[in-house]
Parts: sequence; C-alpha cells; structure tokens
Amino acid sequence: MKQMLAIAACLGATMALAGHELENRDLVHGQALYAEHCASCHGADLEGQPNWRSPGADGVLPAPPHDKTGHTWHHDNQLLFDYTRLGGKEALAERGVTGFSSGMPGFGALLMDDEIWDILAYIRSTWPDRIQAAQASRNPPHE
Ligand code: HEC
Repeated sequence: MKQMLAIAACLGATMALAGHELENRDLVHGQALYAEHCASCHGADLEGQPNWRSPGADGVLPAPPHDKTGHTWHHDNQLLFDYTRLGGKEALAERGVTGFSSGMPGFGALLMDDEIWDILAYIRSTWPDRIQAAQASRNPPHE
C-alpha cells in the first residue's frame, strides 16, 4: 500500500511538471490578446467557425472551436504553442507532415512567447476540470 501511494505521488508530480508552461499565467492578459488576435477566426466565445470539420472549396479547414467541443485539448502544450507561433503549415512540416494548406497563420512575429502561453492558458482556463486533466495527460514529461 505504501509503495502504491509513493507511485501515485510520483505520477502526480510528473503530471504537474508536464503541464507547467500553462501554470501561473496572466489569464486577463491572455483573454485580451485572444480577443485581439484570435477571436476573428476562432470566435469571441471560442466557438469556432460554422462547419469547422469540413474543408472549404479551397481545401482549407475553417477555424475550429477552442472550447471543450473542439479538439484543442487533444493536443499537448508544445503542439499548441508551435501551431500558434509558426502557423499550421510550418508546425506540421516540423512534424513531418508536408503539403498541408493551413488557414492558421503564424503569430511568431506579432506575439512574444510569453504572450502565446498566456493566450493558451486563458483558453485552457475555460475548460471544465475533467478536460483540463485530459489535456495535461497528453504532455510528455519534460523540463
Ligand atoms: C485567419 C484565421 C485564424 C486566426 C486569426 C487564428 N487562427 Fe488558429 N486556426 C485557424 C484555422 C483555420 C485552424 C485549423 C487548422 C488549420 O487549418 O491549420 C486553426 C487552428 C489552430 C490551432 C490548432 C488546432 C486546435 O486543435 O486548436 C491552435 C492551437 C490555434 N489555431 C490557435 C490560435 C491562436 C492562439 C490564435 C490567436 C493568437 C489563432 N489561432 C488565430 C485559423 C485562425
């Protein structure tokens, strides 16, 4: 029993470490930046664009919701960060997926890294605890 508790404690520590970029962020700043830079496509209430699962005639997907109905929470922190900083095409190319026409522009020239983390932390803060925990579990342990 003692051993099991020790294992559980270790797992807890790893999970906290794994999601740490989104801890202690400025959520108010993140929300303001979201409204300024992201809401035009992803929606003022993070609701995304209509029919976001179906590509348009040009093959480009509409912007998905960032609320719990979307798939933002299916991705680990680093993917979300890279997708925002580099844009969809570049972020996927870095992961070996080439030739993807993405409607998601890169914000690396407009936003500082900390600002991107603030926005992502704001997005996460709108999810129920269960979804936040599911997303945290996607993060591999890292420094
Ligand atoms: C011009 C429209 C547009 C703007 C502005 C925009 N996005 Fe996107 N975003 C998209 C589209 C379209 C996708 C869908 C995937 C693709 O086409 O690459 C996407 C996908 C994403 C994804 C990955 C997919 C997912 O599951 O969530 C993240 C993360 C993301 N956007 C974050 C942001 C953030 C943060 C901002 C503001 C800094 C932002 N986006 C601004 C259009 C936009």
